[in-house]
Order: sequence, then C-alpha cells, then structure tokens
Amino acid sequence: MLGHLLHLAGIDSVIVENRSQEYVVDRVRAGVLEQGTVDLLIQSGVGERLQREGLPHDGIYINVRGQRRRIDMASLTGRRITVYGQNEVVKDLIAARAASGRPLFFQVGDVSVHDLDSRQPTVRFTINRETYELRCDVIAGCDGFHGICRPSIPEGRRRTFDRVYPFGWLGILVEAPPSSPELVYSFHDRGFALFSMRSNSVTRLYMQCAPDEDATKWSDDRIWDELLTRLGSDDGWKPLVGPITQKGVTGMRSFVTEPMRHGAMFLAGDAAHIVPPTGAKGLNLAIADVWRLSRAVAEYYQSGNERLLERYSDDCLQRVWRAQQFSWWMTSMLHRPDTESLFDWRRQLAELEYVTSSRAAMTSLAENYVGLPIT
Ligand code: PHB
Repeated sequence: MLGHLLHLAGIDSVIVENRSQEYVVDRVRAGVLEQGTVDLLIQSGVGERLQREGLPHDGIYINVRGQRRRIDMASLTGRRITVYGQNEVVKDLIAARAASGRPLFFQVGDVSVHDLDSRQPTVRFTINRETYELRCDVIAGCDGFHGICRPSIPEGRRRTFDRVYPFGWLGILVEAPPSSPELVYSFHDRGFALFSMRSNSVTRLYMQCAPDEDATKWSDDRIWDELLTRLGSDDGWKPLVGPITQKGVTGMRSFVTEPMRHGAMFLAGDAAHIVPPTGAKGLNLAIADVWRLSRAVAEYYQSGNERLLERYSDDCLQRVWRAQQFSWWMTSMLHRPDTESLFDWRRQLAELEYVTSSRAAMTSLAENYVGLPIT
C-alpha cells in the first residue's frame, strides 16, 4: 500500500519481500476493513474488486451465554465495516504494482539495513544468491513483528511495551455459506468463540484455546462440537457445518515499540505494533501508518520540509495506543479468564450486559470498531 501511495505521488520505491508471491496471496489473515481503510483503497484506485466482492456489514452480534444481541454500528455511528480478506487486498495491490512497472521482488533473502543515522541508508539483500545493495533516502520497515527492521534499532534507542495473553485462537476456514450475514462474537462459559466469513461460500471461525495448543490434536469433529456449543444461541442460530480447509493456532499479544522512527528508517504496521485480533484492528492500523508515511515522504520531496517526517512517530502512536486500549478491552471482556476469581467473572458478565444494552456503551464500542477516520 505504501508503494502504491508513493507511486501516485510520483515517488520511486523498491519493495523487497521475503516470501513468494503465492505465499502472500494464499495465506489467510485478517478480514475486517474499517470504513476509513475502504475509503482509502477506493480513492487510491485499488478498490474496484473490493467494491464488487467485499461484504459490507452494518452491525455485529455479541452472544452472551447463548443470548445473541446486535450492535447496530451503522445507525449508531453512520459508518460500517467491510469483510474482504487481507490477502485479497494484497492481491489487488500486487496487480496495481505490476501495472505501475515499479520494482517488486519476491523471495528476497538475507535482508539487512545499514547507515540508518546517515542521509543515505542502504538495504542489502540477495536474489538467487546474488547480492545487491540499494542506496536510498528513506527505509520503510514494513516487515512485520518477526522482521529485521525493528531489531536493527539499537536497544538503547527504543522502548517496548507488551502484554502476552494466557490464551490463543484456534482458527478454521470452512467451505460453508455464512449462516449469519454479520459477525458473532461469543462469550461462553467454555471460552470465547467468533463466527466470521470470507465470502458468500466461505465461513471463518475461531475459538479460544491454550496459547500453545497443538492444532493437529483437534479432530474436525471435536472442533465442531466445541464451536457449536460456544456459538449456538437461544434463538436457534448456529453456524453451518462444512468441510474444514485450513486449521491453525494464533498467539495473542499486545505490543508497541517507541519511537516508530530511527534516523532514516520508519517502522509501520506489525513491525512496530501488534494488537490481539479481537478488535479487528491490525491491518487497519498498518494502513493508517503507511498513509501517514506516504504524506510525510511526499511533503519532504515536494518542499524539503521534514515536519511530517518528524511528527510521524508521535502521530501514529496516538492512533496505535487508542487501538491498543480498544483491542485489550474487547479481549479481556470476551475471553474466559485464567483465574478462578468469581468476582471477575460476575464483573465481566455485568460489563457485557451493559455493553449490549446501553445505547451509550454500544455507541462507544461501535465507534471504535468501525474506526477513526484516517487523517
Ligand atoms: C476474521 O474474519 O478473520 C476476523 C474477524 C474479526 C476479528 C478477528 C478476525 O475480530
């Protein structure tokens, strides 16, 4: 997305990607786009398939111990979300990149960044065992939580803040039409579960599990038993069962590194921050980061003014911490805690009652869920 926004501003960039094109296009990841993300994709000319195939959602359900309650986000906020896979966004961006004729390399190895404190940092890498060195003005570290950019900042020059949760999500992809047009977040005595989708024929489901759960120990039957128990509601609703085509466990963590800049290198997305998936914010935060970075770089080339580059980290971190708070809150409210404290359990139920009945509380959840405008 950054490469695309820079291209529209007439700025050269080179994208080096560790994985193969097939891998990034096929790997199922997040699926909820905020209104601001959708608007930006459309305005920047890469939203055509999204508009055709994306599924707009006006609300979500919260299922509290079998009672499904709807939060009507569109009427509470005037905004909505769209379900469209992150890998589909990536596919559209790769097509736009190819059309621009600008460089994008896959299966790049041994990437390292150098001279970050200078006016001419470099990126070294290999393609087919041949070594390259790229000299540039700015490096964007968009290489994810496990990437090499963040650790290239000396430890004394960054601070990290994190929280690891005592649970993970076991996620499956199912060949079955979604039996609800909207997502269902379910709070159940046996643990959290989530009903989501990717298209009119593919359902995506998750359930709370141990952080180190071994997905291969879960037979399809056992998964369905557990999901139907946790998701089913008194009104008779339940997900449709179908063939499971993918299974995997994701850990849950909250993480922020500050600042998001070191000299000529700017971190964006998961390289700088991780949110637990319960708030559906990860991809949307990454888009907001690169939008800011593209504005800042464009201003620098147009006028030599570094004002926006200097503000980049502080500006991004405001939104990041707001999303951290929301994601932590959704996660703590909806998951079964690992304590045996009956006080916490009762308190959690009281909070869910409030959040699914008070207009003020529903509006607060909805405005965070649909997302702030990208500015
Ligand atoms: C998904 O469809 O993958 C999804 C939806 C909502 C979330 C997290 C993941 O909060």
